[in-house]
Amino acid sequence: MSRSAHPAGPRHADVLPEGHYSAPPADLNALDPKVWAQTVSRDDDGVLTVGGIPATRLAEEFGTPAYILDETDFRARARAWRTAFGADADVFYAGKAFLSRAVVRWLKEEGLNLDVCSGGELATALSAGMPAERIAFHGNNKSVEEITRAVEAGVGRIVLDSFQEIVRVAHIAQSLGRRQKAQIRITVGVEAHTHEFIATAHEDQKFGIPLAGGQAAEAVRRALQLDGLELIGIHSHIGSQIFDMSGFEVAAHRVVGLLRDIRDEHGVELPEIDLGGGLGIAYTSDDDPREPHEIAKALSEIVTRECESARLRTPRISVEPGRAIVGPTAFTLYEVGTVKPLEGLRTYVSVDGGMSDNIRTALYDAEYSVSLVSRASDAEPMRARVVGKHCESGDIVVKDAFLPADLAPGDLIAVPATGAYCRSMASNYNHVLRPPVVAVKDGEARVVVRRETEDDLLRLDVG
Ligand code: LLP
Repeated sequence: MSRSAHPAGPRHADVLPEGHYSAPPADLNALDPKVWAQTVSRDDDGVLTVGGIPATRLAEEFGTPAYILDETDFRARARAWRTAFGADADVFYAGKAFLSRAVVRWLKEEGLNLDVCSGGELATALSAGMPAERIAFHGNNKSVEEITRAVEAGVGRIVLDSFQEIVRVAHIAQSLGRRQKAQIRITVGVEAHTHEFIATAHEDQKFGIPLAGGQAAEAVRRALQLDGLELIGIHSHIGSQIFDMSGFEVAAHRVVGLLRDIRDEHGVELPEIDLGGGLGIAYTSDDDPREPHEIAKALSEIVTRECESARLRTPRISVEPGRAIVGPTAFTLYEVGTVKPLEGLRTYVSVDGGMSDNIRTALYDAEYSVSLVSRASDAEPMRARVVGKHCESGDIVVKDAFLPADLAPGDLIAVPATGAYCRSMASNYNHVLRPPVVAVKDGEARVVVRRETEDDLLRLDVG
């Protein structure tokens, strides 16, 4: 089982387990296409290039650390999802993974819809011209102000997350003279992470309305009675970094069971079902994610089969991949600072960023890989741990990796597959400035989110 994984809960560095590399990779200079964006390779000098641009030039021009985003790769992945699901389904990119105005424009051009989960994400989406009807608005605690803005803007759907919100959204829509399209998010008693899923009592969480005990059915009953709402479907999201489709199978079975009960009770066949996001990516060479066309085929077969046995018309399916689109498209480029060998243990390689630009290792015990990218090296592999510059021993970016033993201050190293949940979860811990996002394509690089400055920090600090 892969360990590039997921939420076991917060852990302290002192109890981090030994790394999972028992032997160094055969070739330290190799860049595994599974974990790197598609235009990444090494040039004749051994320098990593992306979109035709050497990493050394990117570092000179934009500084480090920096998130380097391969636009060609992003668009290709977005298009692959769009094509795989076809005209009878919708793909909502989950903006929480990473959102910027450039990304919104690419999504719009590639025919994807957008899932937002806060007023800030909604504002970003609208300001970049995403048509409101292609936006889904999520969240377990949307404010009245956020709901009002979403309804006024005309978002395509609001995903209702509680009994109170059903009434709140209906009331706001009605007072604005609108009938808001909505889905109800339910919890189906399935939780899936990485290769495992558990189909027991995972209703014990803040999201959604439990199917268990007839609560979801009661929510539907109430929503159908309210003039301010047009109930268009049921939503379920079962977890993150999932490789195994069996969790979706159980979820679809239970969601379709609810659709059947709704038909039997109300004579209404809800036209849509949303199976959420959570599809896994390769963080290390050990991970084997599925291709979008395999996922689309599997989900469509599952839903069609379940609907046939419930004698329901197959609803329109939608999905909400975030990580699977943006995750592999970006890497973080760092400059090596201090290199500290600890006799008999490992070498601590400090970089100019850390937990403020990638909290996932500290928070989820996530696995990443890392490569020297400013040159190739024939030196022996060295057992290394890549750490940041923050005042915290848990400030680890890559827990256990092999880097060449001649690694020295000033070298550039890069951590692949940092496109999802790294910039979007970045912080200013220790007043470290958040890195820029630089998009590269066809030999050109441009900043799409600029680096924070000390002025930015001081502007918020009003004394
Ligand atoms: N739809 C819903 C309703 C969600 O809650 C999420 C993620 C997604 C879609 C997108 O999931 P994805 O395809 O990106 O896995 N910060 C964590 C991940 C939290 C995910 C929360 N919800 C991480 O860094 O792994």
